[in-house]
Amino acid sequence: MSRLAKKGVMNIEPYQPGKPIDEVKRELLLEEVYKLASNENSLGPSPKALAAVSKALKDLNRYPDGNCFYLKTKLAQKLKVKPDNLAIGNGSDELIAVIVQAFMNEDENAVVADPTFLEYRLITEAYGREVRVVPCVNLKYDLDGMRKAINEKTKLVFIANPDNPTGTYISDKQITKFLENIPDNVIVVMDEAYFDFVDAKDYPNTMRHIKDKNLIILRTFSKAYGLAGLRVGYALANTELIECMNRVRQPFNVNSLAQVGASASLDDVTHLNKTRDTVLKGKRSICAALDKLGVAYVPSQTNFVLVDVKRDSFELFQKLLRYGVIVRDMKPYKLESYIRVTVGTDKENKKFIEALKKVLKEN
Ligand SMILES: Cc1ncc(COP(=O)(O)O)c(C=O)c1O
Repeated sequence: MSRLAKKGVMNIEPYQPGKPIDEVKRELLLEEVYKLASNENSLGPSPKALAAVSKALKDLNRYPDGNCFYLKTKLAQKLKVKPDNLAIGNGSDELIAVIVQAFMNEDENAVVADPTFLEYRLITEAYGREVRVVPCVNLKYDLDGMRKAINEKTKLVFIANPDNPTGTYISDKQITKFLENIPDNVIVVMDEAYFDFVDAKDYPNTMRHIKDKNLIILRTFSKAYGLAGLRVGYALANTELIECMNRVRQPFNVNSLAQVGASASLDDVTHLNKTRDTVLKGKRSICAALDKLGVAYVPSQTNFVLVDVKRDSFELFQKLLRYGVIVRDMKPYKLESYIRVTVGTDKENKKFIEALKKVLKEN
C-alpha cells in the first residue's frame, strides 16, 4: 500500500491488456504466435494509411495540429455533421477520461453495466467519482435497471453498443425508449467501438439523437480501421458538449501520424469492406466449429466471440498459449468460465479451433 497514493487509487485494479505476441514468444520459446486477444484487425492497417504515415514521418519535428482540422473535416463529411460536432482523442479511451473530467462534479456518479468495457469503471474511479453498477441479465444490458439506478447525483451513463466482452447489442426500439426517459441533466455516452461490424437490422442509428439529446457517441479507428497502435478515436455530439470536452483535453492529444493515418484510412473503403467481410465470414466459421464441438458461445455483433468453455478460463487460456494462441480469459470480468476470442484471418481462426480441440481433449 503506498502512503503517497491519492485516496482510492490503491483500490483500483489496473486494466489488463491482451498479452503481447513477443512476450509469449519469449516466455514459451515459440516461433509462431497468433494474437486473438484484443479485438484488433488481423488484416493490418489500410495500405493508404501506411503510405500517409510514412510520408508524414519527415515532419515529426513539428507539433501536430491541435484541432485535427483535416481529419475532422473528412470525418464530418462522411458522417454528414459539422466539424464542431466532433472531438478527436488519443483512442476512445482518452475520450472517456475527457468526458469524466469535463462533466462529473466530485459528488456525482456514473451508471455502468456489468459485464461491459472495464475502462468506464476504472477511469471514473481513477478520478475519484462513484460508479453505480447494474448487472446485465443473460449477458444483455438491463436498461430498465440502469434507468432505475440513475439518481439525482447521476451525471453519466456509459453504454457499449454492441457490448464488449459479450458481443450482444441493444436495438433501436430499446435505446429510443431509454433515451426518452433520461433526465435532462444526465449525459448518455454511447460507445460504438464495434459499430462497423454490426449486421443486425434493428441496430440503432443513434446519430439522429445528437441534436436533441445529451448524447455522446464514441467510435474508434482501433478496430475496423486497424489502427489500434496509432491511438485515434472520436466523439460525436452536439456542439455544446463537444466544446466542454475541448476545454479539458490536452492541446496536442492526437499525434500527427495518427491524424494522417486515420484520414487516409477513411479513403480506403475497399480495406474496410474486406475487413468486414473477413470478420463476418470468420465469425461464421468459428461459430460453426464451436457448434460442432458442442461448445457454447454468445451470438455476437462484433469482431469477437465470447465462448463458454465450462471450466476455469484462466487455465484454458494458459493451455492455449502453449499452442501459440493468445485469447483473453474473462476472469477480470467475473465471467469465470468464459474466454473471448477475436475473429482473425482464416489461418488464425483455424489455429484457434485446432488448439481449442487439443486443449479440450486434455481434460
Ligand atoms: C467498447 C470499447 N470501447 C473502447 C475501446 C478502446 O478503444 P480505443 O483503442 O479507441 O481506445 C475498446 C477497446 O477494446 C472497447 O472494446
